[in-house]
Amino acid sequence: MSTLFEPFSIGSIKLRNRFIRSATTTYWADEKGVLRPEAVELYRRLAEGEVGLIVKGHMYVSDGGKVHNGMAGISSEAHIPMLRRLTEAVHGAGGLIVAQLNHGGIQSLVDRAGPSEYVGEGWKARALSQKEIWSIIEAFGDAADRAMEAGFDGVQIHGAHGYLISQFLSRLVNRREDGWGGSLENRMRLLIEVYKEIRNRVGAAPVLLKLNCDDFSPEGFTVEDSARVAREICDRGLDALEISGGGIGRIAELMARARSNDPELSEASFAGHAARIREATRPTPMSIVNGIRSLRCMEAIIKKDLADLISMSRPFIREPDLVKRLREGRQGAATCTSCDLCRSREVFGKMLLRCHLDK
Ligand SMILES: Cc1cc2nc3c(=O)[nH]c(=O)nc-3n(C[C@H](O)[C@H](O)[C@H](O)COP(=O)(O)O)c2cc1C
Repeated sequence: MSTLFEPFSIGSIKLRNRFIRSATTTYWADEKGVLRPEAVELYRRLAEGEVGLIVKGHMYVSDGGKVHNGMAGISSEAHIPMLRRLTEAVHGAGGLIVAQLNHGGIQSLVDRAGPSEYVGEGWKARALSQKEIWSIIEAFGDAADRAMEAGFDGVQIHGAHGYLISQFLSRLVNRREDGWGGSLENRMRLLIEVYKEIRNRVGAAPVLLKLNCDDFSPEGFTVEDSARVAREICDRGLDALEISGGGIGRIAELMARARSNDPELSEASFAGHAARIREATRPTPMSIVNGIRSLRCMEAIIKKDLADLISMSRPFIREPDLVKRLREGRQGAATCTSCDLCRSREVFGKMLLRCHLDK
């Protein structure tokens, strides 16, 4: 038996086990970005289900960075009271929760603006000015302050999945010719500045980063880039790294390149790439997400030292008490089939997040 169900520390906080609920929007905030009470209950159930660390679904740090209807905000004081209710509910059930901070950039609802002009399917995005970039960095810092005020145990920077920070990291999306584009050093500057700003605000509280191992576009952000960025930010004192993948320009067939040849790790979609990032970032605590479902695979990830922590999203939508079930030996794997009905167009933002398989 591995140490999956034993405590593990991330910076100043001690998780009761090595399970992380990866950020998952409940798409259930009102039009002003205030979380609705039903969403709080959903988080309470996760904490009661013994999840070691919950990453709250992404929240916009400034109103211009809102990505979709139902997305929660952390861009103003008005967001704090419900977020405090949320952290109190989680803490009351013995859990820990960090706030995921995000900005949509060219994927934003209101003002599509990112590193440089970009033409998408039926839309066009503009380039941010340097002044705007600095004000977004400050907005990340202000949001981190609010997260602390609301009682979160730390923050996670969303640096994955094709949102603003991931757009700056991508060669494909970031065509700037000033100090924010071109070389990888320049492309990672936004992330580094955001990290520095947040660290200044939160002091010793844990700062985490969700980072793509690859955005799976032909000329975007590669695993080599990812390992360099990860190392740079870990050297600056990041408390934990969560490895994910996928972004703008993604081509599904390219995802195979992130896999591992090790059959014991076949469920974990990014295990191959994660091993390379692990080499560059040890001993910073690392977790990986995507596809992990069986206890066998989770045990292998820990035993082989591919990562220290196991992150999952969809399995916890179906089974908020999954960790408890696994610990008690009631089942050997999550029953989530990755059908993705939980984020289909019919339900996304229209009803509270839940599993729609066989219901
Ligand atoms: C309904 C839904 C909402 C999600 N919301 C977020 C989010 O807010 N932030 C984020 O980083 N990832 C988000 N994700 C992605 C997950 O965190 C995770 O990376 C992905 O689902 C793969 O992990 P899994 O196979 O364990 O589900 C979301 C996924 C789903 C299904």
